[in-house]
Amino acid sequence: MSEHVPVTSVTLERFRNHQHLEIGSLDQTTVLVGPNGSGKTNVLEAIDLVISGRSFRQARIEDVVQWGSDDAVVRLALARQDAAFVVEERLSAEGGRRLYVNGVEKRRRSDVVGKEHTVVFRPDDLELVKGPSDVRRDALDALGARLSEAYGHTRREYTRVVRHRNALLREWRATQADLEVWTEQAIALGARLLVHRRRLLARLAAHAAREHDSLSDGARLSMEYHDRCGLGATDPAVEVSGDDAKAALRAAFAARRDEERQRATTVVGPHRDDVVLLLDGREARRFASQGQRRSIALAWRIAEMRTIEDVSGSSPILLLDDVMSELDERRRAALQDCIASASQAVLTTTDEGHVPGAGRRALVIALGGPRE
Ligand SMILES: Nc1ncnc2c1ncn2[C@@H]1O[C@H](COP(=O)(O)OP(=O)(O)OP(=O)(O)O)[C@@H](O)[C@H]1O
Ligand SMILES: [Mg+2]
Repeated sequence: MSEHVPVTSVTLERFRNHQHLEIGSLDQTTVLVGPNGSGKTNVLEAIDLVISGRSFRQARIEDVVQWGSDDAVVRLALARQDAAFVVEERLSAEGGRRLYVNGVEKRRRSDVVGKEHTVVFRPDDLELVKGPSDVRRDALDALGARLSEAYGHTRREYTRVVRHRNALLREWRATQADLEVWTEQAIALGARLLVHRRRLLARLAAHAAREHDSLSDGARLSMEYHDRCGLGATDPAVEVSGDDAKAALRAAFAARRDEERQRATTVVGPHRDDVVLLLDGREARRFASQGQRRSIALAWRIAEMRTIEDVSGSSPILLLDDVMSELDERRRAALQDCIASASQAVLTTTDEGHVPGAGRRALVIALGGPRE
């Protein structure tokens, strides 16, 4: 455990239900306790919004500004080995956002909070196992984007190109030649994204398998990458070159030319791929029990933590939203270990009794009722 915690204080102004909330001195572990609707998740969301740049609720900026207000402010005091500074994000009801460090505006988030990372644990994580493929793609890509600028850039560009291409496919006048240039870009960027994804998944899957072993009784967790372009290499640990990926994508685009004109959308590429989770070789989405799904989801998030430690060399900040109460003794103990080894953890709960050890080691903050 490091001697200093990364986030030393949090201030919210007009952020969701919090007119003004100041948490003055966060500890290595901080527990936010309050009844339903008191704004616990909102505090985690605010911290994540500044550090990771996005809301784990997939909320739009305008949604987090308190109803009837023009803007919201989230202020974090951050401490590093060699420096302490205040990061402030101003969010406008029109959807804009501006980032300041010690009062000076900054353009790039990575210049400001590039060293800090968050991993969020939520009851909704079960969706990783039973939800549609975009939940898993998004989780993987969000992790990749946080760890590598190149990954994030490739993903944004690829998404932009596919959107453009789809718009073109919907125009009945667009010719094959009009499409060509966008197809080439989709192939180049898609191949790059696919390679990034597989590499990250290989790392994540190895950690997840190990973590899952200690959470469950013997069932083996594995992860496969299922592409829609006929590469056929489902084991992410098998290295696929950019050229192989390009060739496969090019062939798939050619083969499904008529189909995509008919459906007026881009039907091949990494935006259609899936990460398949297997328990003892069987698809967890279809066969795993509720408790087994919970272990898999937990293993995924802990694996994110380990992957961040591998790549960045430092431990992330864990944000745990009401997850303890749903876990049995063994999983709770595993999570406690993660919390203890994280650079910092912020937990929420409606009942302090659900957080073992909280009274001993953690700073406990009571949030008021819905109308504070
Ligand atoms: N933009 C907004 N302006 C004002 N209030 C908002 C806004 N967005 C959400 N809220 C309110 O914030 C309240 C608290 O939400 P939050 O999800 O943080 O509660 P919670 O303490 O996590 O509750 P639970 O224990 O049920 O998870 C909700 O009642 C919600 O309606
Ligand atoms: Mg909540």
